This record gives sequence, C-alpha cells and structure tokens, in this order.
Amino acid sequence: MDISAFVFLSSSFFLFYFLFSHAADNITQSQTLSDIEGTTLVSKDGGFVVGFFSPGDSTNRYLGIWYNNIPIKTFVWVANRRNPITDSSGVLMVNSSGSLVLLNQNSTVAWSANSTKEAGNSIVQLLDSGNLVLRKENDENPENYFWQSYDYPSDTWLPGMKLGWDLRTGLERRLTAWKSPDDPSPGELSWGIELHNYPEIVMKKGSKVYFRTGPWNGLGFSGLPEIRATPVYNFSFVSNKDEVYFIFDNIQHSVISIAVLNQTRYERYIWVNGKRSLYYHFPRDECDTYNLCGVYGNCIIGESPKCQCIQGFKPKSTETWNPEEWSKGCVRNTQLSCQDKQKIGFVKFVGYKLPDTTYSWVNQSMNLEECRVKCLNNCSCMAYSNSDIRDGGSGCVIWYGDLIDIRPTAANRQDVYIRMPASEQVKGKQKMKVIVIVVVAIASVFGVLWILYCLCKMTSLRDKMENNVMIDQNIEGQSEDLEVPFFSLATIATATNNFSINNKLGEGGFGLVYKGTLTDGQEIAVKRLSQSSVQGLNEFKNEVTLIAKLQHRNLVRLLGYCIEGHETILIYEYMPNGSLDSFIFDQTRVGVLGWSMRFNIICGIARGLLYLHEDSRLRIIHRDLKASNVLLDSNMNPKISDFGMAKIFGGDQTEGNTKRVVGTYGYMAPEYAIDGLFSVKSDVFSFGILLLEILSGKKNRGSFHPSHGQNLVGNEKNHLHQARTNHPQPMKLLLHC
Ligand SMILES: *[C@@H]1O[C@H](CO)[C@@H](O)[C@H](O)[C@H]1NC(C)=O
Ligand SMILES: *[C@@H]1O[C@H](CO)[C@@H](O)[C@H](O)[C@H]1NC(C)=O
Ligand SMILES: *[C@@H]1O[C@H](CO)[C@@H](O)[C@H](O)[C@H]1NC(C)=O
Ligand SMILES: *[C@@H]1O[C@H](CO)[C@@H](O)[C@H](O)[C@H]1NC(C)=O
Ligand SMILES: *[C@@H]1O[C@H](CO)[C@@H](O)[C@H](O)[C@H]1NC(C)=O
Ligand SMILES: *[C@@H]1O[C@H](CO)[C@@H](O)[C@H](O)[C@H]1NC(C)=O
Ligand SMILES: *[C@@H]1O[C@H](CO)[C@@H](O)[C@H](O)[C@H]1NC(C)=O
Ligand SMILES: *[C@@H]1O[C@H](CO)[C@@H](O)[C@H](O)[C@H]1NC(C)=O
Repeated sequence: MDISAFVFLSSSFFLFYFLFSHAADNITQSQTLSDIEGTTLVSKDGGFVVGFFSPGDSTNRYLGIWYNNIPIKTFVWVANRRNPITDSSGVLMVNSSGSLVLLNQNSTVAWSANSTKEAGNSIVQLLDSGNLVLRKENDENPENYFWQSYDYPSDTWLPGMKLGWDLRTGLERRLTAWKSPDDPSPGELSWGIELHNYPEIVMKKGSKVYFRTGPWNGLGFSGLPEIRATPVYNFSFVSNKDEVYFIFDNIQHSVISIAVLNQTRYERYIWVNGKRSLYYHFPRDECDTYNLCGVYGNCIIGESPKCQCIQGFKPKSTETWNPEEWSKGCVRNTQLSCQDKQKIGFVKFVGYKLPDTTYSWVNQSMNLEECRVKCLNNCSCMAYSNSDIRDGGSGCVIWYGDLIDIRPTAANRQDVYIRMPASEQVKGKQKMKVIVIVVVAIASVFGVLWILYCLCKMTSLRDKMENNVMIDQNIEGQSEDLEVPFFSLATIATATNNFSINNKLGEGGFGLVYKGTLTDGQEIAVKRLSQSSVQGLNEFKNEVTLIAKLQHRNLVRLLGYCIEGHETILIYEYMPNGSLDSFIFDQTRVGVLGWSMRFNIICGIARGLLYLHEDSRLRIIHRDLKASNVLLDSNMNPKISDFGMAKIFGGDQTEGNTKRVVGTYGYMAPEYAIDGLFSVKSDVFSFGILLLEILSGKKNRGSFHPSHGQNLVGNEKNHLHQARTNHPQPMKLLLHC
C-alpha cells in the first residue's frame, strides 16, 4: 500500500468517525469508544459528552464526562481517576462477559465498572442527565441498571444524583475532590452523609472532620440556611430504612446549577447564558471550621475574640484566651448536680447551628415536652431540640455528652435547649418572692377579692416557673427595623417570573439585575446580589440603611430589600431607558442624544456626584462611576446607580486606602488602580472619563498609562490632569448648568 492510499484510507476513516460517530449516545457490545479514533458519546439532548481527555497541563489520558455546551470545559465525572492511561491507547468497551471495561495499551484493565448484576446483551448509554449507564438493551428501568456513573460520583454533584447511602447494598455515594486541576485522582477533601441517628453532611479533610452542615431539620440544614429550595433549584432529603440521601433538581431548563468540591471548598455554581457565577461556597468563614472553639464554645464571626463560651460557661484554660487555647473549650461556671432534678433546667438558645450529632438520639414522633423529660431523666443528656422545625416544630433529638461545634445562625430558626444548673432560676425565684410580698401588700389594701385574684395569678405564675424551668433568652435573631420596606422572596420571584432569563436586564460585578412587575403594576429593577459578593448580614443591612438615606433626583431610588435564606436582594425603581452606555456607544441610538440632552445628562451626573461627595449626610465615594452605572428615566434624566462598591467616609475624611481595588479599568484613577488610594478625586477622574465619552461617543478602552497615546485619556491627558488637580470639578461645572 503506498503512502497516498494510506493517507486517503485513514483520512476517510477519520472523516467517517467525525461524521457518524458524534451523534451516538450509546455503544453496544460489539462497539468501542476509542481514544485514538477520538470517538465520543453525546447524550440525546446534546448536553453531555463522554470521551477521553487530559486535564489541565497533564498529558495523562482519562475517560470522563463533561458538559458539551458551556464554554469552560467542565468535567463532571472521571472513570479511571486513580489509574491514568499514559498514551492515547485507551478503549472503552463491554467485554464478552458483559462488564464495562477501560483497557490500556497492554489491553489490561485500567478501570472497570463495578457491576454486581449478571450482565448480558448490554449497552452503555449516556443519558441526558449526564449519567452513564450500563443496562440491558431493552430495559430502561433505572432499578435494573447493571451499573451507573451516578453511583460513583467524582467531585461534582449533578441534578438528580443521590448523594448518600443505599443501606440495602451498603453503597455510599460521596464527592471527592480532585488532587489538583491537573490530577483527578482523589484529593484530600470529601463530602458525604454521616449516618448518625440524626444524619448530617460532613466535609472531611483526609479522615478528619473539617466542616459539618448540621442536621437536616425539614427545611434545611441548621448550620447552612443557604442550602434551600430557590427559584433555580429545589432540594430534598430522603431518609428511610432503605436509603438516606440528598438530591436536587434544576427547575429552569435554561439555568444549569451544579455543586463541585474544590481542592479547598464546596462550591455551587449557576450557569446562565454560558456565564458562570458562584452561588455560594462552604466553609464560608473561619467559624465554619469544625470544633474551632472546643466544647461549649460559641463561634461568632465579627466579634473579638471569635471564640466565646456560651452563656453559663467559662474558658477551660486559665491562660489568656487565645486561638491556641480555644480548642480546649469551655467548662461550666457551676457544676451540674445530676441527682437533684429540681436544680436542673434548660436554657433556650434561639437560632443556633445544632451541635455535632455523633452522640445523638432521635424520635420523630415525640413532642418537645416529652423530649425535655427524656433529656432531664438521663444525666448524660446535655441538650434537646425539635428534630423537624416545619409547622411549629415536631420530633425530638437529644445529645449525650459535651456539645461541639455550635454557632449562631441568624437566618435559621432552630432552637436548642441546653442543660444548666438551676442557679439562675434560684435568682429568678428570689425575685419572685419579693414580687409576691409586694403584691400581697398591695392586694391587702384592695380587699379580699383582690387578694384571691392575685393569689390565683401568683400560683399559676409560680407553677409555670417550676414546671418549666427555661429561661428565655433571645440570644440571636431579633430583627431590627430597617427604614426600607421588606419584600418577601416569593413576591420578588412572582414579580420577576421566577428570575426568568427573559426578565434579565443586565449583570454587574455584584449580581444579576432583573426587571419585575409588582401585582399593583409598578415596575421595579431587582438586583440579586451574588453570593460571592455578599458581605455579612450586618454590612448588608448597613448598606440598605445607607442607600435608603440617600435621596436625590439624580440617584436611583431604593424601594426595598429582601433577606431570605441565602438571598440578598435590593429593589430599585425601574429606569425605562436603560443605561447611558446603551446610548452613547451605539451608533444608531447615539443620534437620539442631541447636544442639549447630553449637556443635561452631564449636569445631572455632576449634581448626583456632588450630592454624594459634599451634600449628603455622609461623604460617599462611588468608586465605580461609569456609563453603564448611569441610568436614564423616561425623560432621559440621568440617575447614578450601583452603590455596591461605595465607600462611606466620616464627614472630614477625604482619602482612604484599600487592598481590594474595585471598579472598572479605564475609569479608574491611576493612583487608585495602582496603589489602592482613593478619594473623591478618584470619582472626579471617572467623571472626567465619562464626560469625554459622552461628548465623543467613544469608549475609553485603553488603560491610563501615559505611553499609550491611543485612548481618550491619552488624547486629553493634559486637560484631565488639570481637571483632577483643580478638584472639585463637578462644582465648577455646575456653575454652567
Ligand atoms: C444507540 O445509538 C444509535 C445511534 O448511533 C441510535 O440509533 C439508537 O437508537 C441508540 N439506542 C438506544 C437504545 O437508545
Ligand atoms: C470482563 O471484565 C471483567 C472485569 O474486569 C473481568 O472480571 C472479566 O474476566 C472480563 N471478561 C472477559 C471475558 O475478559
Ligand atoms: C505495558 O507494557 C509495557 C511494555 O511491556 C510496560 O513497560 C508497561 O509498564 C505496561 N503498562 C502497563 C500499564 O501495564
Ligand atoms: C467494587 O465493589 C466492591 C465490593 O462491593 C468494593 O470493595 C470495591 O471497592 C468496588 N470498586 C470500585 C472501583 O468502586
Ligand atoms: C423539584 O420540583 C419538581 C416539580 O415540583 C418535582 O417534580 C421534583 O421531584 C422536585 N425535586 C426535588 C429534588 O425536590
Ligand atoms: C477553588 O478554590 C479556590 C479557593 O481556594 C478558588 O479561588 C477557586 O476559584 C475555586 N474554584 C475553582 C473552579 O478552582
Ligand atoms: C417514639 O416516641 C413515641 C411516642 O412517645 C413512642 O410511642 C415510640 O415508642 C418511640 N420510639 C422509639 C424508637 O423510642
Ligand atoms: C443515658 O443515656 C446513655 C447514652 O444513651 C445510656 O448509655 C445510659 O444508660 C442512659 N442512662 C439512663 C439512666 O437511662
């Protein structure tokens, strides 16, 4: 055979495979999937591919599954993760005894599917869910699959995949991180369900617990109020004698949501229109670290020190309470005496992540009072709680031994009752006696009737005190009133068609913006802050309060806010004409803007900025002034939006420094972009750029570097330099407005 014939034959061979192989979603017993031929299987709806790949910089070959139509190649499953093939000789096939095997260069088995059932006449098929299954050719019943990749997850949790246990077969499905982006072999972190009496999800580093979610309480995890049904995906926990697992489903077909265990953390992403955004991640902060504060330690982020003892306890270590000592935990102020039940009570801790459930006991049909009695009667029971918080609470869980890994979780409404000596009640009862004497004295003045009445009341009060020795302490979670209306998530979801993609107005660094219509017809803009940007709850509330105080006709008005579950949302007035950039950088629309209109817009922005800098109660630096952050109302009046990055200053402070430079390159003042030094002058710089853009209708694309003469600033460098040194320019400009 001469060379050209060979080339012709082999190229037609590849052409054949290129044309005919990519459509199949299955191979039968006589077919193979071969690395050298580049064959792949594509699920029927085109969503997933199974084939050979090399991750990152590695040259090793692996068989895996990835998303077909999202731009960043996202692997969701790897077959031979422990056993790479060093060249492209890998072949996937169903061997003659019906096993799914991956053969390497020596035709030895690099990986095989762990099929327990006797296979015969089988096919391998990649389902639309991304599940690779081995099944009988004419039997599509999932119960009868010989094997499925969903039972052996890698680092990715896909919709419909059960994470947890099949108690009948002892199969555990847990996520294991990749060792590195170049190496899919099992890394340190893993994530799965611990089968305690009261199951919970635990993230482990090696064999050590690193983070726990807290148990499922019917609505969510007590330690992770974020994991909850949302408009994007729903979520359920199933626990019966056969199975214990968690599962989620994507609700909107256009939005892909997956969870991945990274080398350092668990992350949930959503993909919308080919763009990825981080929804949330765990651990969220230092206080999520398992047992950081030791037994009876209470981890409170934002307080110094983070680790404190819960009420009624003091640090065990007599040394200064420093991070090295935290793990030693806390001891009781007053020793518990177990025998004398009169001297024991329970203190209610409102809104807490439940303690480690390793030594717990559950009965789903007991009520809270039965639970208390059960706990009271066993000296090693240290706490009790409802096991399910739906419909006002039901079920009973009790803890034996010291309590570990608790922290306040504001969004979670689960209470835990912790055993305490009654010394606090004793104080309470003494107070009670004083009250009794006073009441009796007063009552005698008002006569026998009153005495009787009061005695009745007293007895009932005292009964209450003695039977129910709880001290109610709302340690967490009073909701203070912000000066802005609160919108429920349901209202916002309805208004935005469940955050439909069709309602999307835009996307900022801080999340997606949707258009919504309230039931009364009012149009709103809904800014859904992405998880990555969500500051602490308190910071968010501060920001809401701040924005609410800013009232100016050239600033977008805040109508309300929503904090629910992991959602933090701001609701603004809707601006029908969109943002300024959609006019000035659009060849067809720029014609709408006459010179007087442009002048009006410039003056409006200047007024708004001046208000922020000089006239509002606080000195505010916007830090991200640009054309897309200037919105236009129906009369083309400009309004500055997006205070997400604004920095608040005390009245006399004019300059600050930050390590985290935020903003948009091209608009940023050099000293800010380079040194993180910002002041009102940085905003004035951005204003100058904006001014040039409005006048020229051209975008300032380049950087500010003097050697780049090409950008707008380069052209106008001298003017701009002058503008900055002669600050505040908005003021001067206003003289002409
Ligand atoms: C397997 O793939 C072929 C296309 O190559 C398709 O015609 C056939 O219907 C598929 N079999 C099943 C069981 O889906
Ligand atoms: C098919 O593969 C399985 C799993 O590796 C192996 O046990 C079995 O012997 C193989 N059958 C044949 C005929 O090679
Ligand atoms: C395959 O065979 C070659 C040569 O006999 C040997 O060097 C290599 O280690 C073998 N590889 C595997 C994975 O068994
Ligand atoms: C296959 O199953 C056996 C027994 O069920 C188990 O010990 C083994 O680890 C499994 N192998 C893989 C690769 O999952
Ligand atoms: C999600 O909601 C759909 C529709 O209500 C339902 O069919 C599905 O079972 C739910 N999935 C989960 C995991 O709760
Ligand atoms: C993995 O974790 C790190 C945080 O340590 C993060 O920066 C990174 O974006 C994460 N995600 C991916 C896909 O690597
Ligand atoms: C759970 O509590 C109910 C009601 O008190 C009781 O009837 C049942 O026996 C308990 N179950 C267990 C396993 O203790
Ligand atoms: C208290 O509970 C522990 C742990 O379940 C148990 O071992 C012990 O026997 C119980 N004591 C009493 C008095 O019921």
